[in-house]
Parts: sequence; C-alpha cells; structure tokens
Amino acid sequence: MSGKSIGLSDELHEYLLSVSLRESAVMAELREETAEHPKSQMQIAPEQAQFLRFLVQLIGARRTLEIGVFTGYSAMAVAEVLPPNGEVVACDISEEYTQVARRYWQKAGVDDTIDLRIAPAAETLQALLDDGQAGTFDFSFIDADKKTYDTYYERSLDLLRPGGVIALDNVFRDGRVTGSRSDDESVRAIQELNEKLHEDDRVEITMLPLADGVTLAMKR
Ligand SMILES: C[S@@+](CC[C@H](N)C(=O)[O-])C[C@H]1O[C@@H](n2cnc3c(N)ncnc32)[C@H](O)[C@@H]1O
Repeated sequence: MSGKSIGLSDELHEYLLSVSLRESAVMAELREETAEHPKSQMQIAPEQAQFLRFLVQLIGARRTLEIGVFTGYSAMAVAEVLPPNGEVVACDISEEYTQVARRYWQKAGVDDTIDLRIAPAAETLQALLDDGQAGTFDFSFIDADKKTYDTYYERSLDLLRPGGVIALDNVFRDGRVTGSRSDDESVRAIQELNEKLHEDDRVEITMLPLADGVTLAMKR
C-alpha cells in the first residue's frame, strides 16, 4: 500500500517515458526544436501532453480551448486526436512564439483544426461568450499567465458543457505554493485559486502530481 505519490527520480522519469511515451514524429521534432528556445521550460512535459490526449478522447471532446500556446506542443497533442469536425480555439498574445506553432501544425496537418487567436486570452474567451457560445466546449487547457488563471477558469467554466473538463497547469508553481501566502503575485494567484477550487461545488476536482501539478475540474 502506498500513502502518497512517490517522487519521480530522473531515472524513474526516463523509465516512464521509455515504456509509455507515444509521440508522433512531428511532435518529437517540435519538442527538439523548442528545447533550443530560451524559454523552453514553458513547454509542457511529453507525458503530460499524452495525458491530455488521453483525456480529450475519454470525454469525447470535439471543441476545445487552449489558453497559452507557446510553440504549439499541447495544442497539437490535442488537435491530433480530435474527430474530423473537431476544433481547438487557441489563445496567445505572441506572434513570435506561435509562428513556430503554425509551422509545425501545418507539417502535422492539424492547422485546419486549430483556430489561433492572437489577443489577450481573457478577451478571446469573452468574445466567445458574447457570441453566444456558452456551454458549447468540451475541454479547456489553461497554461498562460498565472495571475489571470481565475478569469480563465471562470470563462472556461461558462464556455464548457456539463461534464466538460478544465485542466489547469502549474498548480504547484515549482513547489512554491506550500506555506503562507507568497510575496510573488503569480504564486499567490495559484495558491488562492487552488483553495477556491477546493471549495467550488460547481465542479468535481482532482489534483494530479503530474509534471508541475495539474488540476482537473469537471463541470457539474
Ligand atoms: C507556459 S506557455 C504555454 C505552453 C504551451 N501550452 C505548450 O505546451 O508549449 C504560456 C504562453 O502563454 C502566453 N500568454 C501570456 N500571457 C497571455 C495572455 N494574457 N493571453 C494569452 N496568452 C498569454 C505566452 O505568450 C506563452 O506562449
């Protein structure tokens, strides 16, 4: 019996990847190119991308939101497994980062599935709501600026159908969420949101010790 999740040593992480990672050639190429980027640590872990793919298929997702695209790895992971009429509305503010994403999405043949919107994500989500699209999405992956996570969560919740799932990345903030309120605004925002979700009876939640911590919130 195990009382808690075990810490992942480098060796065990290597093992996990060696016996479970399934990654398309284009995704592997994108991960290799992004590894050379000065902000490469922003890309999600490959096993996390594989988890998201698994999850969107499990819930039968067709319409999904991606909040924080960077070079496009997580959006591509999801887009590759959506049904033929599937759609990812992908939000980012950076033309520079997402140029790389567009190149790889085209290479993987998922560029028609991904609707990239360059604007602050809060505005894009509000525009979808103003357009009457509340309750029409199945899944939302939140992975942009941490101080706005609460807004992304609230707007995603409005945009999701009952049974839809929100995945929030970096809920551990590299372990900095423990203890008293942080002086760092981004850590504090996550501490407050973690506590809010714990009490939020609009959703079922589970917090997974995957990568930098991922919370799943399923809309009731
Ligand atoms: C952690 S990275 C996303 C990583 C991505 N999910 C992946 O798998 O590679 C965060 C992204 O959020 C974007 N971002 C930051 N502030 C934003 C905002 N207000 N609206 C939309 N995107 C934003 C950044 O430009 C950056 O590309």
